[in-house]
Amino acid sequence: MYQPPLPEKYRHLSESEVFERITQARDTLGRRLIILGHHYQRDAIIQFADFTGDSLKLSQIAAEQSQAEFIVFCGVHFMAESADILSAPGQIVLLPDMTAGCSMADMAEIDQVEKCRRYLQQNPAGNMTDINPFIPVCYVNSAAAIKAFCGRHNGICCTSSNCRDIFEYIWNRNPEAVILFMPDEHLGRNTAYDMGIKLQHMSLWDPDAPDGNIPPDQLGQSRIILWKGFCSVHQEFTPEQIHRAREENPEVNVIVHPECCFEVVREADYSGSTATIINTIHNAEPGSSWVVGTEMNLVKRLTAEMAQKNIRVRSLSDCPCLCETMYRIDPAHLAWLLDELLLYIKAPDRVKLPNRITVPETLKQDALKALETMLDITAAKVK
Ligand code: 13P
Ligand code: SF4
Repeated sequence: MYQPPLPEKYRHLSESEVFERITQARDTLGRRLIILGHHYQRDAIIQFADFTGDSLKLSQIAAEQSQAEFIVFCGVHFMAESADILSAPGQIVLLPDMTAGCSMADMAEIDQVEKCRRYLQQNPAGNMTDINPFIPVCYVNSAAAIKAFCGRHNGICCTSSNCRDIFEYIWNRNPEAVILFMPDEHLGRNTAYDMGIKLQHMSLWDPDAPDGNIPPDQLGQSRIILWKGFCSVHQEFTPEQIHRAREENPEVNVIVHPECCFEVVREADYSGSTATIINTIHNAEPGSSWVVGTEMNLVKRLTAEMAQKNIRVRSLSDCPCLCETMYRIDPAHLAWLLDELLLYIKAPDRVKLPNRITVPETLKQDALKALETMLDITAAKVK
């Protein structure tokens, strides 16, 4: 992903000069522009976001906001790709720093996924027939090619907010279906376990081993095959941290993101997406105390907001659990990109807009199918 070096002048702007530039650009672009901000963005970015949300809400907004010509996505690459897939034709999606990727999304490559599918279909122990087909489900934290794979093979996308709804949808229609869940083993395991699937009916597919490192007898009794992938931020949380927090304060409430490992999620009082974490703490009793197992920019914001309500919030870990790629989106890059946008609108035929996210047409239709099926299932659930 090519990221042009940030021009020198943007490196030396003061905070107030950056603020001024972004504000002016937003005023000039008016309704032609929307800025989306994921909950893990720093406050200095969130202040400019027209909409903030978890991955689910931001995909819903990208699908709904068909009038804005430009969508600037302050988040990571896979989120901006989803926005491009879901946006209306002609809308332009931009990412302020093209190096803002996601290490978890990079853990499932399309060639590895195709290899896994061939293995599962050909291996008699996999027992994949028309009666118990395998259905791929990909976490939204995946490349467009993986979403397209799901769309091509009757699969569905999911986020941490609706993973259970998607599994339910699949198993209600065919209790024999075997789900191949990619790329976060923890979200898949935590969700399936909550639904009553025993650990011995889950397998872990290692993409680096020719046979996925799953013994044939285990493959034969699996209801779900989990891809061996994880989030480097959420794997920092441990059950010992929860024990320590409870020793310090037996009344403390522990809430974690379902990307944390099984032992952490089992030990916590609550788990849920970034939006669930925010809603739960916003609705907490004044005087209550919370430790939170998720990315530090969100925890810092909650700590500051909740202090006014006398709700104490701190991170589960003493070490800063920062998503470094989310953090690459900074006000200087946002100011630069919006200035480029201002040049572009003056001469769209002559000026090349940098940092545009364009999912190839060959992937778009299939990826859209996987994302739209997810949004339809979620919308039907809310009704
Ligand atoms: P949410 O879907 O909860 O916003 O999480 C996205 C993510 O990347 C968490 O690491
Ligand atoms: Fe990816 Fe983890 Fe960062 Fe979320 S927190 S964007 S899963 S690396």
